[in-house]
Amino acid sequence: MKVLVIGGGGRCHAIVDALSRSSKVEKIFCAPGNAGIAAQAECVPIRDTDVEALRLFALANSIDLTVVGPESSLAAGVVDAFRASGLRIFGHTQSATRIESSKEFAKDLMRRYDIPTAGYRAFSDYDEARTYVASRPLPAVLKYDGLAAGKGVVIAETYEDADAALRDMLLDDRFGRGRVVVEDFLTGPEFSLMCFVSGREVRPMVLAQDHKRAYDGDKGPNTGGMGAYSPLPFITAEDETYAMREVMQRTADAMVEEGCPLTGVLYGGLMKTPDGVKVIEFNARFGDPETEVVLPRLKSDIADIFAAVADGAPLPSEMEWHDFATLGIVLASKGYPGDYEKGCEITGLDACEGTVYHMGTRRDGDRTVTAGGRVLFVVGRGATLAEARAAALRDVERIGCDNLFHRTDIGHWAL
Ligand code: AMP
Ligand code: GLY
Repeated sequence: MKVLVIGGGGRCHAIVDALSRSSKVEKIFCAPGNAGIAAQAECVPIRDTDVEALRLFALANSIDLTVVGPESSLAAGVVDAFRASGLRIFGHTQSATRIESSKEFAKDLMRRYDIPTAGYRAFSDYDEARTYVASRPLPAVLKYDGLAAGKGVVIAETYEDADAALRDMLLDDRFGRGRVVVEDFLTGPEFSLMCFVSGREVRPMVLAQDHKRAYDGDKGPNTGGMGAYSPLPFITAEDETYAMREVMQRTADAMVEEGCPLTGVLYGGLMKTPDGVKVIEFNARFGDPETEVVLPRLKSDIADIFAAVADGAPLPSEMEWHDFATLGIVLASKGYPGDYEKGCEITGLDACEGTVYHMGTRRDGDRTVTAGGRVLFVVGRGATLAEARAAALRDVERIGCDNLFHRTDIGHWAL
């Protein structure tokens, strides 16, 4: 097969890496890719939201299968456009992507199909939202309804902070004209359960946990994720069975009932609360950076799974996974998630013993330089999570760059 992967971050690097282990894949293209991906795929300079250019590229190059990484491509309708041209593609239609792109769609679906999640109300009027929040206990959970690059969620500890966030979202239209979902505040450890879904067929991947805060001890601002690991010792087999039955299967069935069946990855951002597992959010794609620790553990041929979903064919009945643990650490540009410099040289990548996925890098002559907020994702492997962490930290020490920082406590929930 000739495969096209759409996207260019660490998640796409992990997808390309998994595809390159398949005996069925002869050639991989990646649009737009990055400096690390270029070692395993031919990068083509097309933006991940340029649906028409992607479609023409796939037709001109007789691409057998396309795999979509980012939600922006899905929300732009890349799957709908490819299918209309008879091209095989793994990912959800625009209409099914609403499970991620619209918080209100997702919450309403969960309410109607009895899928466990935090109670909520949605508002478009600032005064009504403010009155409602003022009548309720703190902290207040406020979610902007739409794609806001991970910045649309505010957990306000005071009524002043809640008011400022509501003003931002409903009066000043910081992210565009939208609505706000006000949710009950839940507590408990969070975890990510990603599944391959084709209509009513659902196959789980191994569990992972992301670390969203910038600094050690889960301090500092929220980021796109500073590290991840798998497996998760604090989630029991019963929790997983419950989450599969009550959340993932029920959601897949609900989407079929609604006329927008899922045909890609359903990502459950879940919380193990004192009242059982509940949904914090759904994503319509592989998680980042969870994918970078989950796919290295996949033993089955990923191309078979992608192709079966794209064709609407029965999925392999069970997927095989390696027993080893994986733990990955993000090296981010100093200043991230705020402003940061780009173009700083990175050395030592060849000396690393484990896998290093590139999140935001580019080639500059014969040098590799930083090109984003999150730059590299260093994955350690081991028989235990502690060994995996030690391996990742050893590789982090081998990488030289003045402008990067990282967390040293990834996996602290489990270790
Ligand atoms: P989201 O983008 O919806 O995943 O929210 C970002 C983060 O905010 C989550 O990972 C949680 O840590 C936190 N969060 C979101 N919703 C809730 C909630 N209802 N209760 C407690 N924490 C929440
Ligand atoms: N790791 C969270 C996400 O992919 O949205």
